[in-house]
Amino acid sequence: MLQKITQRIEDLIKEIGNPYVDTLSSKITSGKMLRSKLVLAICQDHVDVVNLCAIIEMIQSASLLHDDVIDESDIRRGHPSINAIFGNKNSIMLGDIFYSKAFFELTKMDVRIAKSISNAVIELSRGEIDDVFMSETFNTDKKRYFQMLQDKTASLIAASAESAAILADLDHQKYKDYGINLGIAFQVIDDLLDITQDSSTLGKPAMNDFKEGKTTLPYIYLYEMLPEDEKKILVSYFKQNKIEIDRWLKEHFDKYHIIPLVFQEAKKYAKLAISAIEDENNKSLEEVVENMINREF
Ligand code: FPP
Ligand code: MG
Repeated sequence: MLQKITQRIEDLIKEIGNPYVDTLSSKITSGKMLRSKLVLAICQDHVDVVNLCAIIEMIQSASLLHDDVIDESDIRRGHPSINAIFGNKNSIMLGDIFYSKAFFELTKMDVRIAKSISNAVIELSRGEIDDVFMSETFNTDKKRYFQMLQDKTASLIAASAESAAILADLDHQKYKDYGINLGIAFQVIDDLLDITQDSSTLGKPAMNDFKEGKTTLPYIYLYEMLPEDEKKILVSYFKQNKIEIDRWLKEHFDKYHIIPLVFQEAKKYAKLAISAIEDENNKSLEEVVENMINREF
């Protein structure tokens, strides 16, 4: 089924009818297709399910094409990013093509699905703007951080689950709640993996969030735990790129047991996701949560 979705995306891109677009898009490395797996776990058989997944994956790709320009990131999923190979202009334009083609296809779907997904794109763009502005200074506000990640990451995951439930004629609010909590847990696990995994496992540089200006949950918790003088040291390390700093950070994450603490926080949201759909009798959705919590990249 995932193969069919990839094929559908290729066909939709071919319909644009431009050789540059074909060349650029052939260099996109495909991801884990988490959102498609989620849609398929809710609705396997509907005639529109491959289209829905293709639309969602294309929007996800568009947002990453733009995000790698914004973050000046040269590597995506272990391979050079489109901006690294073809420059920022091409990455932005290819993102626009993916985004607008996905929206054109979205107009053919149930209007509730079109509303859910287009609203998610507003939220994800709002989350990205907040992320950029929050990256200017060390952020200690947990509430602000959670709002940003709910927008940036959870919104499209929630809209995917909601849209699949609409296709399958299920109680879509429950699936949306499931998706929001799954999305938050997903991003918190991502924040942890940035610290605990090496770059070859991650397919991008390790310990990179803090260097990019992202004060993720482990850093906010560490800040809360540290005595005043060390708080100042931590803030002074913000956006610095030095191997000694990575070592200091790892030592202090260990000393204050930050990793298990943040893992518990991710598990809290994972449990909320599972309880949102507990009456729905869907084992695959519980497995999606478990695989996401226990993933290594
Ligand atoms: C990755 O964040 C970025 C996102 C999940 C969303 C980015 C959204 C936009 C750029 C808005 C534009 C949207 C469209 C559809 C045109 P990250 O940098 O924390 O993760 P990373 O480590 O994978 O780069
Ligand atoms: Mg990024």
